[in-house]
Amino acid sequence: MSYFPNRPYNVAVIGAASGIGEAAARFLAAEGARVACLDANEAGAATVAKALPAKGGESFSARTDVTDAASVENAIAGTAKAFGQIHALVNCAGITGKTNIKAHEVELADFDRVHAINLRGALIVSQAILRHMLPHNYGRLLHVASIAGKEGNAGMTAYSATKAGLIGMVKSMGKDYAETGVTVNALAPAVIRTPLVAALPDATVKYMTDKIPMRRCGELEECAAMIAFILSPACSFTTGFTFDLTGGRATY
Ligand SMILES: NC(=O)c1ccc[n+]([C@@H]2O[C@H](COP(=O)([O-])OP(=O)(O)OC[C@H]3O[C@@H](n4cnc5c(N)ncnc54)[C@H](O)[C@@H]3O)[C@@H](O)[C@H]2O)c1
Repeated sequence: MSYFPNRPYNVAVIGAASGIGEAAARFLAAEGARVACLDANEAGAATVAKALPAKGGESFSARTDVTDAASVENAIAGTAKAFGQIHALVNCAGITGKTNIKAHEVELADFDRVHAINLRGALIVSQAILRHMLPHNYGRLLHVASIAGKEGNAGMTAYSATKAGLIGMVKSMGKDYAETGVTVNALAPAVIRTPLVAALPDATVKYMTDKIPMRRCGELEECAAMIAFILSPACSFTTGFTFDLTGGRATY
């Protein structure tokens, strides 16, 4: 099966310097997409972009901070200048903030920081890319949410709340653009081994992994393959939906 039968198929990956975004960039490029690696970590994004196969065309990279609308606009404009039409975008930028703390201990500054990236940042990204996609009457926009947004993880108030907000935002946006060729979806993974997870306390990772019926973490390749399908032309009758990637933890 070819995910991207029509070339060029141009995809922007935000958060491409690490973890799920990096794995997605590699997978998408290997499948023949032309990939723009965008990340607040400019050097990291450039390193990933340089290492990508150029099957679908030369990659591009740019610094992008999702908390800053001008930065996101510039990155989208730079990608469009390099590639022309951007067919798909996956937003993998996200942070957990402080974890293993109860709700009454959450510092507002930490909550605001998590919110600025995970939820407000997702709106900024959506607005910038929708303005690009809508005139083309085609687009695949995907935000990486989390099982925490569906179930609520103990000790992760800010993270769970912002991911739940992101899932709600995607439901609304999906309906806003349902009569156009632009779909807006989310992906809710459980634990995938990435630097974000490696930075969490062991107790938090055990709490999350113990809840997975398959009794294991998800693999980056499994995550990247699902992202590629959702970003592909074949995923054409689904919008406003949150795809599950939890080894059976969520069955809805
Ligand atoms: N790893 C998991 O188990 C897991 C599970 C569920 C959901 N997620 C979500 O998947 C996404 C990716 O997570 P990951 O595990 O790959 O994390 P990661 O820390 O490995 O990568 C996140 C990337 O986002 C970038 N980033 C952070 N702030 C940014 C900003 N303001 N602007 C632009 N880029 C920024 C970082 O530089 C980094 O490259 C996140 O949204 C995370 O919440 C991860």
